[in-house]
Amino acid sequence: MEQELQNLENEAKEQLAELSTVDQLEEFRIRFLGRKGHFTTAMRQLGSVAKEDRPRLGQLANRLKNEVEKLFEIKHTSLKAASQTSRQDGVMPDLTLPGRWSAPGKLHPVTQVMNEACAIFEQLGFSVAEGPDVETDHYNFEALNIPAHHPARDMHDTFYISDSILLRTHTSPMQARVMEVQQPPLRLIAPGKVYRCDSDITHTPMFQQVEGFLVDKDVSFADLKGILTVFIRQMFEKDLSLRFRPSFFPFTEPSAEVDIACVMCDGAGCRICQKTGWLEILGSGMIDPEVFKMVGYDPEVYSGFAFGLGIERIAMLKYGIDDIRLFYENDQRFLSQF
Ligand code: PHE
Repeated sequence: MEQELQNLENEAKEQLAELSTVDQLEEFRIRFLGRKGHFTTAMRQLGSVAKEDRPRLGQLANRLKNEVEKLFEIKHTSLKAASQTSRQDGVMPDLTLPGRWSAPGKLHPVTQVMNEACAIFEQLGFSVAEGPDVETDHYNFEALNIPAHHPARDMHDTFYISDSILLRTHTSPMQARVMEVQQPPLRLIAPGKVYRCDSDITHTPMFQQVEGFLVDKDVSFADLKGILTVFIRQMFEKDLSLRFRPSFFPFTEPSAEVDIACVMCDGAGCRICQKTGWLEILGSGMIDPEVFKMVGYDPEVYSGFAFGLGIERIAMLKYGIDDIRLFYENDQRFLSQF
Protein backbone atom coordinates (compact mmCIF):
# COMPACT_ATOMS: atom_id res chain seq x y z
CA MET A 1 0.00 0.00 0.00
CA GLU A 2 2.80 2.36 0.95
CA GLN A 3 4.56 1.62 -2.30
CA GLU A 4 1.37 2.09 -4.22
CA LEU A 5 0.93 5.54 -2.74
CA GLN A 6 4.52 6.51 -3.53
CA ASN A 7 4.10 5.32 -7.10
CA LEU A 8 0.93 7.32 -7.40
CA GLU A 9 2.71 10.46 -6.26
CA ASN A 10 5.62 9.93 -8.64
CA GLU A 11 3.32 9.31 -11.55
CA ALA A 12 1.30 12.44 -10.72
CA LYS A 13 4.45 14.60 -10.54
CA GLU A 14 5.78 13.29 -13.83
CA GLN A 15 2.53 13.89 -15.66
CA LEU A 16 2.08 17.32 -14.15
CA ALA A 17 5.50 18.39 -15.40
CA GLU A 18 4.54 17.53 -18.96
CA LEU A 19 1.24 19.40 -19.11
CA SER A 20 1.20 22.52 -21.22
CA THR A 21 -2.42 23.73 -21.43
CA VAL A 22 -5.10 24.66 -18.95
CA ASP A 23 -7.41 22.04 -20.49
CA GLN A 24 -4.89 19.26 -19.95
CA LEU A 25 -4.44 20.43 -16.41
CA GLU A 26 -8.15 20.14 -15.75
CA GLU A 27 -8.16 16.55 -17.05
CA PHE A 28 -5.26 15.85 -14.74
CA ARG A 29 -7.13 17.28 -11.76
CA ILE A 30 -10.14 15.07 -12.40
CA ARG A 31 -7.99 12.00 -12.92
CA PHE A 32 -5.81 12.37 -9.80
CA LEU A 33 -7.49 14.74 -7.37
CA GLY A 34 -11.19 14.52 -8.26
CA ARG A 35 -13.88 12.76 -6.28
CA LYS A 36 -13.36 9.58 -8.31
CA GLY A 37 -9.65 10.22 -8.84
CA HIS A 38 -6.71 8.00 -7.98
CA PHE A 39 -6.00 9.57 -4.61
CA THR A 40 -9.59 9.22 -3.45
CA THR A 41 -9.69 5.63 -4.61
CA ALA A 42 -6.44 4.87 -2.78
CA MET A 43 -7.72 6.44 0.43
CA ARG A 44 -10.89 4.38 0.28
CA GLN A 45 -8.72 1.24 0.27
CA LEU A 46 -7.32 2.24 3.66
CA GLY A 47 -10.38 0.60 5.18
CA SER A 48 -9.07 -2.80 4.20
CA VAL A 49 -5.51 -2.53 5.58
CA ALA A 50 -4.49 -3.82 9.03
CA LYS A 51 -5.84 -1.62 11.82
CA GLU A 52 -2.41 -0.74 13.27
CA ASP A 53 -1.12 0.42 9.86
CA ARG A 54 -4.12 2.60 9.16
CA PRO A 55 -3.10 5.89 10.91
CA ARG A 56 0.38 5.88 9.42
CA LEU A 57 -0.83 5.10 5.91
CA GLY A 58 -3.66 7.60 6.28
CA GLN A 59 -1.24 10.36 7.18
CA LEU A 60 1.07 9.42 4.33
CA ALA A 61 -1.78 9.42 1.83
CA ASN A 62 -2.89 12.87 3.01
CA ARG A 63 0.59 14.32 2.87
CA LEU A 64 1.22 13.03 -0.65
CA LYS A 65 -2.13 14.25 -1.88
CA ASN A 66 -1.49 17.70 -0.37
CA GLU A 67 1.87 17.85 -2.07
CA VAL A 68 0.38 17.03 -5.46
CA GLU A 69 -2.36 19.60 -4.85
CA LYS A 70 0.25 22.25 -4.13
CA LEU A 71 2.17 21.46 -7.29
CA PHE A 72 -1.10 21.48 -9.19
CA GLU A 73 -1.88 25.01 -7.94
CA ILE A 74 1.53 26.30 -8.92
CA LYS A 75 1.22 24.83 -12.40
CA HIS A 76 -2.32 26.16 -12.69
CA THR A 77 -1.24 29.72 -11.86
CA SER A 78 1.65 29.72 -14.28
CA LEU A 79 -0.34 28.18 -17.16
CA LYS A 80 -3.13 30.70 -16.66
CA ALA A 81 -0.74 33.62 -16.67
CA ALA A 82 0.93 32.26 -19.79
CA SER A 83 -2.38 31.79 -21.60
CA GLN A 84 -3.28 35.41 -20.91
CA THR A 85 -0.11 36.87 -22.34
CA SER A 86 0.25 34.61 -25.36
CA ARG A 87 -2.23 34.23 -28.18
CA GLN A 88 -4.03 30.93 -28.67
CA ASP A 89 -1.45 29.66 -31.09
CA GLY A 90 1.22 30.22 -28.49
CA VAL A 91 2.79 33.23 -30.27
CA MET A 92 3.70 36.43 -28.35
CA PRO A 93 1.09 39.22 -28.51
CA ASP A 94 1.44 41.80 -31.29
CA LEU A 95 3.16 44.70 -29.53
CA THR A 96 2.53 47.03 -32.46
CA LEU A 97 -1.26 47.05 -31.81
CA PRO A 98 -2.56 50.33 -30.36
CA GLY A 99 -3.08 50.35 -26.59
CA ARG A 100 -6.46 50.49 -24.88
CA TRP A 101 -8.01 53.98 -25.28
CA SER A 102 -9.06 55.87 -22.21
CA ALA A 103 -11.10 59.05 -22.55
CA PRO A 104 -9.12 62.21 -21.84
CA GLY A 105 -10.64 64.55 -19.25
CA LYS A 106 -12.25 67.83 -20.29
CA LEU A 107 -13.04 71.08 -18.59
CA HIS A 108 -16.45 71.26 -16.97
CA PRO A 109 -18.93 73.26 -19.12
CA VAL A 110 -19.27 75.89 -16.38
CA THR A 111 -15.48 76.22 -16.24
CA GLN A 112 -15.37 76.55 -20.04
CA VAL A 113 -17.92 79.39 -20.02
CA MET A 114 -16.17 81.01 -17.05
CA ASN A 115 -12.84 80.92 -18.91
CA GLU A 116 -14.49 82.37 -22.02
CA ALA A 117 -16.10 85.19 -20.03
CA CYS A 118 -12.80 86.08 -18.36
CA ALA A 119 -10.98 85.99 -21.72
CA ILE A 120 -13.47 88.44 -23.26
CA PHE A 121 -13.09 90.90 -20.37
CA GLU A 122 -9.32 90.54 -20.40
CA GLN A 123 -9.37 91.52 -24.08
CA LEU A 124 -11.30 94.63 -23.02
CA GLY A 125 -8.53 95.56 -20.62
CA PHE A 126 -9.87 94.13 -17.36
CA SER A 127 -7.55 92.30 -14.96
CA VAL A 128 -8.57 89.49 -12.64
CA ALA A 129 -8.83 89.74 -8.85
CA GLU A 130 -9.89 86.85 -6.64
CA GLY A 131 -11.17 86.90 -3.07
CA PRO A 132 -12.31 84.51 -0.35
CA ASP A 133 -15.48 82.38 -0.50
CA VAL A 134 -15.73 82.61 3.28
CA GLU A 135 -16.42 86.30 3.74
CA THR A 136 -17.20 88.73 6.52
CA ASP A 137 -20.57 90.36 6.97
CA HIS A 138 -18.69 93.63 6.54
CA TYR A 139 -17.55 93.06 2.95
CA ASN A 140 -20.56 91.05 1.83
CA PHE A 141 -23.07 93.61 3.13
CA GLU A 142 -21.96 96.62 5.20
CA ALA A 143 -19.32 97.92 2.79
CA LEU A 144 -21.87 97.59 -0.02
CA ASN A 145 -24.32 99.89 1.68
CA ILE A 146 -26.44 97.03 3.04
CA PRO A 147 -26.56 97.64 6.81
CA ALA A 148 -27.99 95.09 9.27
CA HIS A 149 -31.78 94.81 8.96
CA HIS A 150 -31.73 96.30 5.46
CA PRO A 151 -34.53 94.56 3.54
CA ALA A 152 -32.13 93.81 0.65
CA ARG A 153 -30.49 91.18 2.89
CA ASP A 154 -33.62 89.06 2.47
CA MET A 155 -32.86 88.46 -1.21
CA HIS A 156 -29.56 86.84 -0.40
CA ASP A 157 -30.61 83.63 1.46
CA THR A 158 -27.30 83.74 3.28
CA PHE A 159 -25.43 80.76 4.75
CA TYR A 160 -24.07 82.16 8.02
CA ILE A 161 -21.06 80.58 9.71
CA SER A 162 -21.27 82.90 12.72
CA ASP A 163 -22.85 86.30 13.34
CA SER A 164 -20.13 88.04 11.38
CA ILE A 165 -18.78 85.29 9.05
CA LEU A 166 -20.69 83.89 6.08
CA LEU A 167 -20.34 82.30 2.65
CA ARG A 168 -20.35 85.18 0.21
CA THR A 169 -23.70 85.53 -1.54
CA HIS A 170 -22.22 87.43 -4.49
CA THR A 171 -18.84 88.53 -5.86
CA SER A 172 -19.57 92.21 -5.13
CA PRO A 173 -17.54 92.17 -1.86
CA MET A 174 -14.52 92.26 -4.17
CA GLN A 175 -15.47 95.82 -5.13
CA ALA A 176 -14.89 96.99 -1.57
CA ARG A 177 -11.86 94.77 -1.00
CA VAL A 178 -10.07 96.12 -4.08
CA MET A 179 -11.07 99.78 -3.71
CA GLU A 180 -9.89 99.77 -0.11
CA VAL A 181 -6.31 99.03 -1.17
CA GLN A 182 -6.05 100.46 -4.69
CA GLN A 183 -6.57 103.89 -6.18
CA PRO A 184 -8.41 104.59 -9.47
CA PRO A 185 -8.26 104.04 -12.36
CA LEU A 186 -9.54 100.48 -11.79
CA ARG A 187 -10.71 98.02 -14.38
CA LEU A 188 -11.21 94.62 -12.77
CA ILE A 189 -13.18 91.42 -12.91
CA ALA A 190 -13.64 89.11 -9.93
CA PRO A 191 -14.74 85.60 -10.92
CA GLY A 192 -15.69 82.98 -8.34
CA LYS A 193 -18.11 80.81 -6.46
CA VAL A 194 -21.01 82.26 -4.49
CA TYR A 195 -23.50 80.60 -2.17
CA ARG A 196 -27.20 80.98 -1.47
CA CYS A 197 -29.57 78.73 0.42
CA ASP A 198 -31.76 78.00 -2.59
CA SER A 199 -32.31 74.97 -4.83
CA ASP A 200 -34.64 74.36 -7.79
CA ILE A 201 -34.35 74.09 -11.57
CA THR A 202 -32.83 77.56 -11.86
CA HIS A 203 -30.95 77.75 -8.53
CA THR A 204 -28.18 75.72 -6.90
CA PRO A 205 -26.78 76.42 -3.40
CA MET A 206 -23.41 77.15 -5.01
CA PHE A 207 -23.05 78.91 -8.35
CA GLN A 208 -20.50 81.10 -10.06
CA GLN A 209 -20.43 84.77 -10.85
CA VAL A 210 -18.19 87.24 -12.57
CA GLU A 211 -18.14 90.67 -11.02
CA GLY A 212 -16.82 93.52 -13.10
CA PHE A 213 -16.13 97.13 -12.13
CA LEU A 214 -14.47 100.14 -13.63
CA VAL A 215 -13.66 103.32 -11.71
CA ASP A 216 -12.12 106.46 -13.18
CA LYS A 217 -12.89 110.13 -13.78
CA ASP A 218 -15.91 110.72 -16.07
CA VAL A 219 -17.16 107.15 -16.32
CA SER A 220 -20.75 107.14 -17.55
CA PHE A 221 -23.64 104.75 -17.99
CA ALA A 222 -22.83 104.75 -21.71
CA ASP A 223 -19.49 103.07 -20.88
CA LEU A 224 -21.33 100.36 -18.97
CA LYS A 225 -23.67 99.80 -21.91
CA GLY A 226 -20.78 99.62 -24.34
CA ILE A 227 -18.78 97.08 -22.36
CA LEU A 228 -21.77 94.84 -21.68
CA THR A 229 -22.95 94.95 -25.29
CA VAL A 230 -19.54 93.87 -26.56
CA PHE A 231 -19.36 91.14 -23.91
CA ILE A 232 -22.82 89.69 -24.64
CA ARG A 233 -22.35 89.71 -28.41
CA GLN A 234 -18.99 87.95 -28.17
CA MET A 235 -20.23 85.45 -25.63
CA PHE A 236 -23.29 84.42 -27.66
CA GLU A 237 -21.59 84.97 -31.03
CA LYS A 238 -24.68 86.85 -32.20
CA ASP A 239 -25.68 90.51 -32.56
CA LEU A 240 -28.21 90.25 -29.73
CA SER A 241 -30.21 93.28 -28.57
CA LEU A 242 -29.81 94.35 -24.95
CA ARG A 243 -32.42 96.01 -22.75
CA PHE A 244 -31.49 97.94 -19.61
CA ARG A 245 -34.38 97.73 -17.17
CA PRO A 246 -34.42 100.04 -14.11
CA SER A 247 -33.82 98.08 -10.91
CA PHE A 248 -32.41 98.49 -7.43
CA PHE A 249 -29.20 97.42 -5.71
CA PRO A 250 -28.04 99.23 -2.55
CA PHE A 251 -24.50 99.55 -3.93
CA THR A 252 -25.36 101.03 -7.34
CA GLU A 253 -27.35 104.11 -8.32
CA PRO A 254 -28.89 104.14 -10.81
CA SER A 255 -29.21 100.36 -11.13
CA ALA A 256 -30.31 98.27 -14.06
CA GLU A 257 -31.01 94.67 -14.79
CA VAL A 258 -29.93 93.72 -18.25
CA ASP A 259 -32.06 91.53 -20.51
CA ILE A 260 -30.99 90.06 -23.81
CA ALA A 261 -33.24 89.15 -26.72
CA CYS A 262 -34.22 85.51 -26.17
CA VAL A 263 -31.52 83.31 -27.70
CA MET A 264 -34.04 80.51 -28.32
CA CYS A 265 -36.70 82.45 -30.28
CA ASP A 266 -34.81 85.63 -31.28
CA GLY A 267 -37.29 87.74 -29.34
CA ALA A 268 -40.45 86.26 -30.86
CA GLY A 269 -41.61 84.79 -27.52
CA CYS A 270 -41.28 81.16 -26.41
CA ARG A 271 -41.45 78.91 -23.35
CA ILE A 272 -37.88 79.75 -22.27
CA CYS A 273 -38.48 83.53 -22.19
CA GLN A 274 -42.05 83.05 -20.94
CA LYS A 275 -43.38 84.67 -24.11
CA THR A 276 -41.69 88.00 -23.32
CA GLY A 277 -38.93 87.73 -25.94
CA TRP A 278 -36.39 88.78 -23.28
CA LEU A 279 -34.10 86.94 -20.87
CA GLU A 280 -32.72 88.52 -17.72
CA ILE A 281 -28.98 88.01 -17.66
CA LEU A 282 -27.23 90.29 -15.17
CA GLY A 283 -27.38 93.07 -12.60
CA SER A 284 -25.50 96.33 -12.99
CA GLY A 285 -25.36 100.02 -12.24
CA MET A 286 -23.24 103.07 -11.44
CA ILE A 287 -21.35 102.54 -8.18
CA ASP A 288 -23.19 104.31 -5.36
CA PRO A 289 -21.42 107.37 -3.86
CA GLU A 290 -21.93 105.80 -0.41
CA VAL A 291 -19.71 102.87 -1.42
CA PHE A 292 -17.02 105.28 -2.63
CA LYS A 293 -17.16 107.23 0.63
CA MET A 294 -16.68 104.08 2.72
CA VAL A 295 -13.42 103.24 0.87
CA GLY A 296 -12.24 106.85 0.93
CA TYR A 297 -12.81 107.76 -2.74
CA ASP A 298 -14.20 111.23 -3.45
CA PRO A 299 -17.50 110.71 -5.32
CA GLU A 300 -17.19 114.25 -6.71
CA VAL A 301 -14.02 113.21 -8.51
CA TYR A 302 -14.57 109.56 -9.39
CA SER A 303 -17.40 107.64 -10.94
CA GLY A 304 -17.66 104.00 -11.93
CA PHE A 305 -19.88 101.18 -12.97
CA ALA A 306 -20.25 97.61 -11.73
CA PHE A 307 -22.01 94.51 -12.93
CA GLY A 308 -22.42 90.92 -11.81
CA LEU A 309 -23.38 88.02 -14.01
CA GLY A 310 -24.20 84.38 -13.33
CA ILE A 311 -22.06 81.93 -15.28
CA GLU A 312 -24.44 78.95 -15.07
CA ARG A 313 -27.24 81.13 -16.39
CA ILE A 314 -25.15 82.06 -19.42
CA ALA A 315 -24.07 78.44 -19.95
CA MET A 316 -27.72 77.31 -19.82
CA LEU A 317 -28.75 79.84 -22.46
CA LYS A 318 -25.73 79.18 -24.62
CA TYR A 319 -26.27 75.41 -24.66
CA GLY A 320 -30.07 75.23 -24.24
CA ILE A 321 -29.99 73.51 -20.84
CA ASP A 322 -33.23 73.80 -18.88
CA ASP A 323 -32.17 72.50 -15.44
CA ILE A 324 -29.21 74.12 -13.67
CA ARG A 325 -28.79 71.09 -11.39
CA LEU A 326 -27.47 69.04 -14.32
CA PHE A 327 -24.20 70.94 -13.99
CA TYR A 328 -23.58 69.54 -10.53
CA GLU A 329 -24.79 65.95 -10.79
CA ASN A 330 -21.56 64.70 -12.43
CA ASP A 331 -23.39 62.57 -14.99
CA GLN A 332 -20.78 61.62 -17.59
CA ARG A 333 -23.43 61.39 -20.34
CA PHE A 334 -24.24 65.07 -19.76
CA LEU A 335 -20.71 66.34 -19.20
CA SER A 336 -19.15 64.57 -22.17
CA GLN A 337 -21.28 66.60 -24.60
CA PHE A 338 -19.27 69.76 -24.04
N1 PHE B 1 -24.26 91.43 -6.75
C1 PHE B 1 -25.49 91.49 -7.49
C2 PHE B 1 -26.20 90.12 -7.37
O1 PHE B 1 -25.56 89.14 -7.12
C3 PHE B 1 -25.27 91.81 -8.93
C4 PHE B 1 -24.69 93.19 -9.15
C5 PHE B 1 -23.32 93.36 -9.22
C6 PHE B 1 -25.50 94.27 -9.30
C7 PHE B 1 -22.78 94.63 -9.43
C8 PHE B 1 -25.00 95.52 -9.50
C9 PHE B 1 -23.65 95.71 -9.58
O2 PHE B 1 -27.37 90.01 -7.56
